[in-house]
Order: sequence, then structure tokens, then C-alpha cells
Amino acid sequence: MRIDIISAVPDLLKSPFEVSILKRAIDKNIVEVVVHNLRDYAHDNYKRIDDYQYGGGAGMVMMIEPIDECISKLKKERTYDEVIYMTPDGAQFTQKMANRLSLYKNLIILCGHYKGVDQRVRDHFITKEISIGDYVLSGGELGAAVVCDAIIRLLPEVLGDETSALTDSFQDDILAPPIYTRPAEYKGWKVPDVLLSGNFPKIREWREQQAFKQTKLRRPDLLKD
Ligand code: ADE
Repeated sequence: MRIDIISAVPDLLKSPFEVSILKRAIDKNIVEVVVHNLRDYAHDNYKRIDDYQYGGGAGMVMMIEPIDECISKLKKERTYDEVIYMTPDGAQFTQKMANRLSLYKNLIILCGHYKGVDQRVRDHFITKEISIGDYVLSGGELGAAVVCDAIIRLLPEVLGDETSALTDSFQDDILAPPIYTRPAEYKGWKVPDVLLSGNFPKIREWREQQAFKQTKLRRPDLLKD
């Protein structure tokens, strides 16, 4: 898989890909993440990529030309499955979306900044708009990192234990059950006996019951169907 991220602040996207699981996925050539500095596509000597809004109003708007040139250059090199725009008014990002995106080969993610992009970018280049939640960040970069993390960890052979992504919270619209590790007792707080029993059918049943209980308590909306 290849993910091209277009950003006005590419430094914000450095560390998420330089450590832990995402770094390993990149080192193993399972995914290639290429961050493009939008200023490299600016036309003037000041490397301007934003301008005032037509009609007046506070906040700068990202101009269409540099974005068009960057996306068009990439599209000449390969075919993209989606051109995603990170924006607080996009569709709420979910595990289902991550699952679907993880099946694709090439993605472009455009990070909004300032007030956002010229509407014509959204109308003519963007195929999917994603929000990571109902709050406004100073740019789409952190959201793009969230989306990349959620996608990349699903790719085959990224996680050590192949089954562990399948048992994540939300994979079946159900939250994960509680988990424990050693010691079996700490300050008098005990790990549930069943987990120490070695009885795997019973352990599975306990986990299912707990997952259901957690979901009912914390996210009853997930159980609607
Ligand atoms: N850019 C600014 N806020 C955002 C959000 N909540 N999700 C995605 N991109 C954003």
C-alpha cells in the first residue's frame, strides 16, 4: 500500500511514522508513506499557498493551484483509490472505514489548514472527506496520522499476532473485554479466576459476556442493531 499525504506543515507528520508499529510496517515495505510539502508547489517567491477569502471574512484559504499541481503529478504516476480530505465537517471516521481503506492500494490524504481549502478542490479532486471527531484541530495532519495508524495496523503482517486486530474494540460493533497480565494479585486486587483456569471455552464465554457488558454500559448505541 502507498499513502501520499499532502500538507502545509509536513513536520507535523514526522514522528508518527518514525516509531513503533508504523515504522516497522514501513521498514518491512508493507506500506510506503510519502509526505509532500505543499509549499514545494507554490508559485511565488514567498511560497504562498493561501490567500484571503472572496467575499471577506476572517481566516486564510488554501489555494487551488498548488493542490491541483501536487495531486495531478501524483495521479500521473499511479492510480489512486481515494483522494481524502481531512476536515471537521467530513464523515466521522470509524473502524469500518479503516477496514475498507486498508484494502486499497494507493491513497492520497490532503490535510486542510487555516480556514480550509478553496471549495473547488473539494468539488473536483476529493473523493472522500473524513473527520476524526466533532472538534476543530489546527490542521488535518494529526487527523491524517490517526487515519494512517488505524489503516496500517490492519495490513497483513503489520501486527505480530495476526488475530489481535480482529479482537480490537469496534471490530464487531462491540467493545473489547477487560485484559490483565502478571501479577495475578496486586495490592489484594485479583485477576478474575476464570482467566487463570486454563479452561479456554469458559474463558471465551467470559470474554464475550464481559465485552457485551462493557458495550451495554459504555456504548449502548453500538448494540442498537
Ligand atoms: N481538521 C481540523 N479538524 C479536524 C477534524 N476534527 N478531523 C479531521 N480533520 C480536521
